Amino acid sequence: MQQVTDSLIDAFAARGEAEIIAEFAYPLPITVICEVLGIPAADRSLFRQWTSNAVSVEPGDVDGRLSGTPSPGEYLRALVTTKRRAPEDDLISVLVEHEKQGGLSEPELVSMIFLLLIAGHENTAALIGNGIVALLDNPGQLTLLQERPELAAATVEEVLRYDGPMELAAWRFTTEPVEIGGTRIPPGEPVLIALAAAHHDPARFPEPDRFDLSRSDNPHLGFGYGLHHCLGAPLGRLEGEVALATLFSRLPDLALAMPAERLPRQPSSIVRGLHELPVVFTPVRSPRRSG
Ligand code: HEM
Repeated sequence: MQQVTDSLIDAFAARGEAEIIAEFAYPLPITVICEVLGIPAADRSLFRQWTSNAVSVEPGDVDGRLSGTPSPGEYLRALVTTKRRAPEDDLISVLVEHEKQGGLSEPELVSMIFLLLIAGHENTAALIGNGIVALLDNPGQLTLLQERPELAAATVEEVLRYDGPMELAAWRFTTEPVEIGGTRIPPGEPVLIALAAAHHDPARFPEPDRFDLSRSDNPHLGFGYGLHHCLGAPLGRLEGEVALATLFSRLPDLALAMPAERLPRQPSSIVRGLHELPVVFTPVRSPRRSG
């Protein structure tokens, strides 16, 4: 993770400006999840379009393809066939082994890989982008992180609460009548939980609209709760820590290149993230290695 982070920053550090979402926040988790899954580097450029189709407001063609390229289903079925013939040291090969032992059907296997691919980077990219904006908007907290890099873990927890990447938790269904805030929900009804509302509840978080790295009691629901708690939480947390700490240590005067309120947001009701994040900073001609 540190190597990928450093080489992405190396690629734009001498320019003095960058579009952080396309050049940093996406390629970092995409590269990491593809390494974990065992997806060849040359194929990774296909994924952003597939996955942003899958989380967009109007999903349209979820199996969307770019002209002249395979759909995600076609691509992943072909990759699974290759891994069946020649397994490697990666997660797809482990899942293929379960398939052979009757644990997963082929459609389940392909859906599982696609889920891991989307969940494995879309949220993390949003966490990195939202984290950068929260820190720039709160210069005192940014200075604290720069002086005490060991606060990177607390920073990620506070970003997950203050401006977390997931708008809603996974769907829940009531199994019995439930009363919330004076409203009775009958059994068998879907319940969509707005995580951001919970995270800004003054009854649970004192001064909820304050971005505060020193919050000691921060039981946010940014990775969900219970049975469906995020499978990739440790991976997402670590990626966020490495990304934010390294970026602000190597480019300490990084600043937004446009007013925060004009930053274009992703058109999604699932992911709360930025579509673009242009920044400027003092160019660094001979990039330092931080890891
Ligand atoms: C900062 C990054 C991430 C955030 C904020 C995040 C957030 C979430 C949330 C809120 C849920 C729904 C949980 C619930 O409703 O209780 C979830 C589920 C899930 N996430 Fe993540 N996630 C992140 C990164 C990842 C990564 C890196 C992976 C995979 C490597 C991943 C895989 C999954 C999977 C498979 C589920 C479904 C779990 C289930 O339904 O049992 N996530 N995530």
